[in-house]
Formats: sequence, C-alpha cells, structure tokens
Amino acid sequence: MSNRKMITAALPYANGPVHIGHLAGVYIPADVYARFQRRLGKEVAFICGSDEHGIPITIRAKKEGVTPQDIVDKYHEIIKKSFSDLGISFDEYSRTTSKKHYETSQDFFKVLYEKGKFTEEISEQYFDEQAGEFLADRYIVGTCPNCGNENAYGDQCEKCGSTLSPSELINPKSMLSGNVPILKDTKNWYLPLNEYEDFLNEWIIEGHKDDWKPNVYGQVKSWLNDGLKPRAMTRDLNWGVPVPLPNAEGKVLYVWFDAPIGYISFTKEWAEKNGKDWKDYWQSENSDLIHFIGKDNIVFHCIIFPAMMKAHGDYIMPKNVPAFEFLNLENDKISTSRNWAVWAHEYVEEFPGQQDVLRYALLSSAPETKDNNFTWKDFQTKNNSELVGIFGNFINRVAVLINKDFEGKVPEGDINAPELEEISKRASEVKNFLENYEFRNALSAFMNLARFGNQYLQNEEPWKTIKVDVEKTKHTLFIGAQVAVALGNLAEPFLPFTAQKIYDIFNVEQLDWTSLENSKVLIEAGHQIVEKAPLLFSKIEDSVIEAQIEKLEQTKQNNKKTNPNANPMKEEISFDDFAKIDLRTATILEAEKVEKADKLLKFKVDTGVDIRTVVSGVAESFTPEELIGKQVMILLNLAPRKIRGIESQGMFLLTTKPDGKLSFVTPDDSNVENGIEIG
Ligand code: MF3
Ligand code: ZN
Repeated sequence: MSNRKMITAALPYANGPVHIGHLAGVYIPADVYARFQRRLGKEVAFICGSDEHGIPITIRAKKEGVTPQDIVDKYHEIIKKSFSDLGISFDEYSRTTSKKHYETSQDFFKVLYEKGKFTEEISEQYFDEQAGEFLADRYIVGTCPNCGNENAYGDQCEKCGSTLSPSELINPKSMLSGNVPILKDTKNWYLPLNEYEDFLNEWIIEGHKDDWKPNVYGQVKSWLNDGLKPRAMTRDLNWGVPVPLPNAEGKVLYVWFDAPIGYISFTKEWAEKNGKDWKDYWQSENSDLIHFIGKDNIVFHCIIFPAMMKAHGDYIMPKNVPAFEFLNLENDKISTSRNWAVWAHEYVEEFPGQQDVLRYALLSSAPETKDNNFTWKDFQTKNNSELVGIFGNFINRVAVLINKDFEGKVPEGDINAPELEEISKRASEVKNFLENYEFRNALSAFMNLARFGNQYLQNEEPWKTIKVDVEKTKHTLFIGAQVAVALGNLAEPFLPFTAQKIYDIFNVEQLDWTSLENSKVLIEAGHQIVEKAPLLFSKIEDSVIEAQIEKLEQTKQNNKKTNPNANPMKEEISFDDFAKIDLRTATILEAEKVEKADKLLKFKVDTGVDIRTVVSGVAESFTPEELIGKQVMILLNLAPRKIRGIESQGMFLLTTKPDGKLSFVTPDDSNVENGIEIG
C-alpha cells in the first residue's frame, strides 16, 4: 500500500459557476476521500484548479462582449470561493493560465516532440478570411442536414441533438464575421493513440477488470474495441497555451492536452510552497494517483492522458479513476445554459452556516452507479428527519444531560461494555466503503451509528433513571459520550463543519482513524465538556423550500423562450431604476478608426444636448464612412469611460444579427430631431 495519495478532481471550466451536479459528482466525494486518507495518516496532495482554456470560454467571452481573460478571472474567483465555502479541502486550487502551468505543459509537449512521439498531419480546416482565423467547430453555424435547423453548430445540432462535423453543415457561416469560411490547409501535431492500444488493453482491460468501477471499465473497453485513432494535440486558435515550436504561430495546445497537465503544474506549485517534492507524487511507485471525474471525462483520463504520460515515460499511471454519473434536478437534466441548477455560490448565501446539509444531501444521493435526482423536498426531509431528528438530537441530548446531571463531566462507565464495539464496527465499515469509493454506503454506515446512539438513549432513558439509579445513568451517559465523540470523528470526512462543532462541544481533539477502530475509550470519565452546547442543525421550514421551488419555477418560465438563442430575462428592476436611464436620439457627425484597436471606432455625435465623443466596438461590422450622418440612439448619462486613452461619453444602442454582425437601433421615422427622449 502506497504511502502517498495523489488525488485530483476534474478541473472545472471557468466559464460559469459550479452547481450541485459538479459537487455531487466530483468535488464532494473527492473531498471526503482526501479527508479520509489524511485521517489514515497518508501523505495527501489534493489538487484542482480552473480549466481556463477551450472553446466554451471564448464563446462565453464573445457572447458577453469581453475578453476570455475577463471571463476566466471572474469565474475562477467565484468557483474558488464556492469550493472553500463548502469546505472542499484542496491543498492547491490554481488555474491553467498560471505561469507554472504554461511552462509545465510546454515542457511536456517538447519532451514528446523531441522523443518523436507526435506525427505531423496536414488537414483542411475552415478558415475565416476576414477574421484571419481558423474556426473551431463551434464557431461555424449552418443548416443541420438532419432536421433543417438553421442555427446548428459545426459540432452539434442542439435542436435534434445529432453530432455533426463542420463539413456536413449546409450553408456554413463563420460566427466571427458571418462570411462563408473557406477550407485551408493547416499542420498540427497528433498523438497516434492507436499505438497505445496494446498498452491500454494490458493495463486497464487486463489489469483493472475487478477494481475499477464497471461504468469506467465498460466505457474504456468499448473505446478500445472500436479502435483508437491519432488525435490532434494542437489547434489553430488564439486562446490557449502556445505551441512551443518555431513556426507555430497561431497554434495552441489542445485544451485536453494542457488541462490534465494542470494537475501536475498545480502539484508543483503546491510542492514549492510546502517544501515537498512533486515527483514523489507523480513519478514514484510509492504514490497512488486517483482521478475523480464525471462520466463525460472518462476517455480523457483513462485513454488520452495516460497515453500522454506513457509517451513521456516518467509518470505513474492512475491507480483508479472513480467517475460519477450525472445528477438531475427535480427530474430534469441540470443545464448551465438553461439555468436549471442549484448554484453553489447561491446556496452558500441563501443557507448560511448550512454547508454540511448540502454535503449530506448530495452525498446521500451521489450518482455513483447511475444518474440520480436531487429534489428540494428530499433535501428538507434529509435535514429535518435525519440530521436534526437523529444525529443532532442524539449529540444534543448527551451534552445537555451530562451538564444537567454531572456538572459537565463525563461520568464513569464500564470500559468493556459491548456497546463500544458498535463504534469500532461502524468505523471499519465506513473505512471499507470509502476505500472502495462507495460514498453513499459509507455515509449510511456513519448514520447507523447515530441511529444506534439515539436508540440507545431511547431504551436506557437516562432522564428517567437519574431519579432511581444514578450508577446506571452514569454508564448510559459514559457510553453516550463515547458514541458522540466517535460520531464527530466519523463525520469529519463527510461533514467537516459539524465535526468541528462536536469536537468543540466535547472539548476534544480529532483522532486518527485507527483509534476509532480499536474499541477503546475515546473520551475519559471526568473530562469536562462545554456548558452550553450549540445545536448542530436546525429545522428547515416549508416556506424556505417553497421559495427554492418557486425560484426554479421562474427559471422554467424563462426557458419557455420562443427564440432559444435569447438570453434569459435579467433581474427585474423598478420603474425608478428605469427612469434613471437617459436615452436620446442622436446623429453621427464624424467616424474614424482607433489606432491599434481592431474593434473600435471613434465618433463625434450630435446628441441635441451637446456634441460629444463616443468610442464603440463596431469596427468589425461597419466602415467609418457608412456611418457618417446616421441617426442612432444613445445612452446619454452613462458615466464617461476611458477606452484606449479616449474618453467615451455615452453608449450607442446596438443589437446583434444572426450572423454575429452588429446593427444600430434607429428610429423607424427619419424625421426625428436629435436629443429626443426615448421611453
Ligand atoms: N474542464 C473539463 C470539464 O469540465 C475537465 C477537465 S479535467 C482535466 O469537463 F483533466 F482536463 F483537467
Ligand atoms: Zn438538427
């Protein structure tokens, strides 16, 4: 058994916040596992970070009219904070735009390149001549050959769900310029995955038939049965880690090449800060590499990344890749674009101090072997009947009675009582389940100890026996205290905030796992506990649950959109908010290009109120000449902003056409004077 555990959790894309599906299917189980391994005394490195490259990020940036860097900066912070608020105990949470990651992923690429592990292939790719860029599949829209949807993407039609390649689209158009893209030759570097089939067959199909989860094993087997093909490890894009070779301008590492290397880069960052050697975790037989992922990531973690590491030569292979299925929300697929989710950062705000309730609810419905479902009603029941009714109730009664009857000192009891075996039995059960990645079973084994404790008090009735048999009562509460401390310790991987509260109530330090398995006294007679124990959990009222259900109902309404491309309605504003906005008609007097800014034009505008300067990002849609004399609508009282050193005093009202080009909002009658209010 290895002494070190190199535990990774899939790097979330920094193009949106994390939701309960991510938490239940990757991050909370991974955290439970990491915490548990630390308790076993293993040297754990639990590593994650934001995946900041890839097309989803550039698409989001384009949609919001900002740079990819803006997007990743924003979501990296939100995601990082959610994880820390929910007690996900990463040793390092970094990001793939870090300097260390650029170096590490480029070095990795160079090693493979120099060892001759890549093949170079020329292929024809769609190219947008006006934008001067090769187009990722997602950047090509056209008519779906299967259902006639005119807004199908080059990789997929969202209407009929079919997988496409750009060449299948009828009338393909570039989303960047709206123009018809041309096919152009480009050279990229491929990893011939087919050459790794024998290795993968031997290592996984023969070697991990019995210890990997059937869903993971099954998927890998079917990929291998179908046969692997060379896969491009570089792309023609301008957002990503640059390919570290001469003559590779405009090419970046494929996001699925750079992202998993992130695990290594971030381990290096952590190791440097903590006086560790990262190689002990990645290149030593005394280390178990374990990847926690969702099922859509299986091929990357079981085939592509291992093939990359094998090609490199210095790395250990993953010991296990526990992949989870998906979590649904109220019987519907969780979807970021449809806003059908419970967002981690919103939960933390709306349920302050109740992080462990979410951890508990998500662990008990973790989608381990099949897709599972989260409902708010179920969440409420789990809190009210299990956490409050059983676990919290037991701990509270023990603490209150010890204070009331024994001045807060744990009374004497039989240290060989058979009840103590219940503790060691449950501790071993939890351990065995966790070693097997059976989180739901582990959680119920833990809860069974709470049930046992609760039932024990119910049977012994110390609140009654105190009047007639003090000795018996002492023993009951002695056992109660042992079970309570055991529960705190067993709870820690699952419910770390609650565990800390229990340690505080009983005034004890956390124990390592083996002491829990040894049937011995965990808290001595005579030990002083705190006088006023806080409640561990509190009841969640119907009104709170109804508010959450109502919120989802709102989302459903928003989703009944007649145009699937329309963004959902923004937060409601009052009339007074609206009245603050000063919108006017105006006429463009002058227009010119802004130096070294491809997207910007600078205008002189007659607003009726004055003549002012406006800078606007319309240069990709219009020439300056065609706009002179145009009547437009302007937001007049927007605080001035410096753009490229020029002060812009207002903003034009613009909209976007289906081809991605901008269009001015104008009055439909040309006889409108300048400076007329709109509203
Ligand atoms: N960002 C990917 C996703 O959300 C996961 C990347 S995992 C890594 O599906 F291994 F590539 F880092
Ligand atoms: Zn279609």
